[in-house]
Amino acid sequence: MSATLPRKLFVTAALPYANAPFHIGHIMEYIQADIWVRFQRMQGHEVDFVCADDAHGTPIMIAAEKAGVTPQEFVARIAAGRKQHLDGFHISFDNWHSTDSPENTELSQAIYRRLRDDAKLITTKTVERFYDPVKGMFLADRNIKGECPKCGAKDQYGDNCEVCGAAYEPTELKNPYSALTGATPVMKPVEQYFFKLSDPRCVAFLQDWLNTPGRLQPEMVNKVSEWLGNDGKDLADWDISREAPYFGIPIPDAPGKYFYVWLDAPVGYLASLKNYCSKKGIDYEALLNDPATEQIHFIGKDIVSFHLLFWPAMLKFSGHPVIDKLKVYVHGHLTVSGEKMSKSRGTGISPLRYLEIGMNPEWLRYYIASKLNAKVEDLDFNPEDFVARVNSDLIGKYINIASRAAGFITKRFDGKVVTDWATASDTFISNLRNVAPEIHAMYDHREFGKALRAVMEQADHINAYVDANKPWELAKNPGKDAALQEVCSRLLEAFRVLTIYLKPVLPELARQVEALLNIEPLLWSQVGTPLPHGHKVNPYTHLMTRVDAKMLDALFDAPIDATATPPSQPSPSQGEGADGGTIEELAPEIKIDDFTRIDLRIAKIVNCEQVDGSDKLLRLTLDVGEGRMRNVFSGIKSAYQPEELIGKLTVMVANLAPRKMKFGVSEGMVLAASASDERAKPGIYILNPWPGAEPGMRIR
Ligand code: 2FM
Ligand code: ZN
Repeated sequence: MSATLPRKLFVTAALPYANAPFHIGHIMEYIQADIWVRFQRMQGHEVDFVCADDAHGTPIMIAAEKAGVTPQEFVARIAAGRKQHLDGFHISFDNWHSTDSPENTELSQAIYRRLRDDAKLITTKTVERFYDPVKGMFLADRNIKGECPKCGAKDQYGDNCEVCGAAYEPTELKNPYSALTGATPVMKPVEQYFFKLSDPRCVAFLQDWLNTPGRLQPEMVNKVSEWLGNDGKDLADWDISREAPYFGIPIPDAPGKYFYVWLDAPVGYLASLKNYCSKKGIDYEALLNDPATEQIHFIGKDIVSFHLLFWPAMLKFSGHPVIDKLKVYVHGHLTVSGEKMSKSRGTGISPLRYLEIGMNPEWLRYYIASKLNAKVEDLDFNPEDFVARVNSDLIGKYINIASRAAGFITKRFDGKVVTDWATASDTFISNLRNVAPEIHAMYDHREFGKALRAVMEQADHINAYVDANKPWELAKNPGKDAALQEVCSRLLEAFRVLTIYLKPVLPELARQVEALLNIEPLLWSQVGTPLPHGHKVNPYTHLMTRVDAKMLDALFDAPIDATATPPSQPSPSQGEGADGGTIEELAPEIKIDDFTRIDLRIAKIVNCEQVDGSDKLLRLTLDVGEGRMRNVFSGIKSAYQPEELIGKLTVMVANLAPRKMKFGVSEGMVLAASASDERAKPGIYILNPWPGAEPGMRIR
C-alpha cells in the first residue's frame, strides 16, 4: 500500500461535446474513472474528480442554428440531461462545469498570453482556407464534402474518407462543396495563429516527457515516438485560431479571431476544478501549486494527440506547476458484439434506456470493470457474456454468501455474530485478508479485470466452505447451534471483506451491505478489522437480482422491421374492413413529396441465414445493384425458412439510416405485410415483385 498519505489527486474524464446526450462510450469511460477514484477515496486519499461540457466549436454552433436557438441555449439543454445519467450510473464527479464559462475564458486567455509573451511560442501565418461564399464563413474540415482523392467515393468529409479510410487535406477533395449550403467553396487567404509545436524547446520537452519511465502506457510511448520521429522535424505547428462567426473564446488582441475548440477544451479541466474550488472555498492556486498534486486525465484512444502532444506542451510552456505529475490514462473503445461504435451515433445501447427498463447500473459497472485493464484495448459488450458474468459471478458467487448466512443469524441468533475465531492465525480469514495488497495494486494500476478475478477466486473458496459446512443442514439440528452461528458469522465476515474489495465497483450495493451489517461506510483499511464479537446485524433483505436475458433484448433498439414486433393487442384505432374484419386505421395523409423521400428498391436476396440467439430475426444479404451487399435483419423468422428466400427478389427501404442492433448493423428494411393483430390472424408476407424487375430498380 502507498506509504505517503494522503495523495492529492485531480482527476478528470474527457469532456463530452455538448451536441448530444451521453452515449454508452461516455458512460464506459466515466465508470472506469469513477472506479479508480472511488478506490483512491477508500484509501483516504484526497480526490477532486471533475468534468464539464465541451461547448465550443462549429458543429455545436451549426446545430444550434438549425434548432433555432443560441449556442448557449443549445448547450444548456444538453447539459440539463447530464445529471440523470451520472446519478443513474453512480458516477461520483465532484463538479460538472462547461468550457463556455468565465473560468475557462480567463484561464485559456491567460495560458495563451504566457505562451505568446513569455515562451514566444505563438506565431501567425497567412494561409489559404476554404470559404463558403453563400454562408459568408470559413469552413471547418467537417463542413466541406467532396469526392475522396484516393478512392473517388462521393460525399466524403474534408479530413478523411469513411469508405477507404484515407486521411487528407480538404484542399485535396475533388469537386468540393460546402456541407452547409451546397455552394462551391472558394480559397481565401486568412491570417491564422499557430502554436509552434515544432520549436526545438517543445520537441526536447516532449521527448523527455515521453521517455519518463512509467509516465505513459507502452502503446502510447510508441505512438508519440512515431509523431516525434525524425527529431520532431515532422511535427507541424498547430493552427489554434478560427474566424468569426465562431462559438468560442476570443483570442486576446486579435479581433474577430477565436481559439480553436481543441485549445480551450482541455483548459476546461482546469476551469471545472477552479469552479469547484470557488464553490467549496478551496484555494485553487494553492492546490495546483502543491507539488504533491497529481493531475490525471482518463481519455479514449481517439484523442491522444491532443492530450499527449499539445496539452502537455501548452501546460509546460505556460508554466503549469504540476507538469511533472501529469498522467494520461488512455483506454480503448467500446464495441458491441464486435461492432465498432460511431462517435456521433454511439452504439445501439442507449444508457438512458438501460436505466429506464430497470436494468441495475451496477451490473454494467461490474461487467465493464471485469473487462477493463490498463492497456489501450477495445472492450466488447457482448449480451450473452454480460448475463453470464453478472449472474454467475456477482449473484452466484458473491451475493450467494450473504444469502446463505444472514437469515440464520437474524432468525436464530437475534442478529448477533460471533467473531472471537477471527484471529491472525485463522486461515479462513487470513487467506482472504492476505490478498488485499495484491488487489490494491491491481486497482491502483487500473487492472480492474484482474482485481475482480482475484476477488471471485476468493468467493470460490468461501463458497467451497459453504458447501463443506452446509449451514442449512446445521440448522436442522438444534444441538449444532454454536456451529451454525460460527459458520454463518464466518460467512458474513468473509462477505464484509469481499464487499470492501468490490466497493469501488459496486458503491450502492456496498451501501446496502453496510446497512445490513449495521456498520459505518467501509474503508480499505478495515479489511483486517472484523465485526465486533456479539455485534448485531440487521435482518437480511434482498441485495441484488439476477439479470433476465429478456432485458438485453429490450435494451437493444426495437427490431427495425415493423413485422418483428407485431402488436400483441388489437390497436384501439382499428377501422372496419370491407370483409367485416378489422384493418389498421390508415396513417395520416401525406403528400407525394413525403412518399418520394422514401427510396424503395428491388433487392435480390443473395443469402439468408438464421441469427444465433434470436427467435424472431433472419439475416438477409441483399443486392440492390450498388456493387456491394447490404446486411439486413428482418423479423420474418416465424414465416420463412432461409432456403425459401435465397435467390428471390423483394422490396426494401434503401435510404433508411443504418441501425445498430444486438446482432450487428442493419442497413435497410425489407417490406412485409401482416395483420394488425397477428395473434388473431398470423402470417407475415414479404413482397415479391412481378417477373422482370431487377435489383436496384426504384419503386415509384
Ligand atoms: O472528443 C471529444 O469528445 C472531445 N469533446 C473531448 C475533449 S477532452 C478535453 F480535452 F476537453
Ligand atoms: Zn476513399
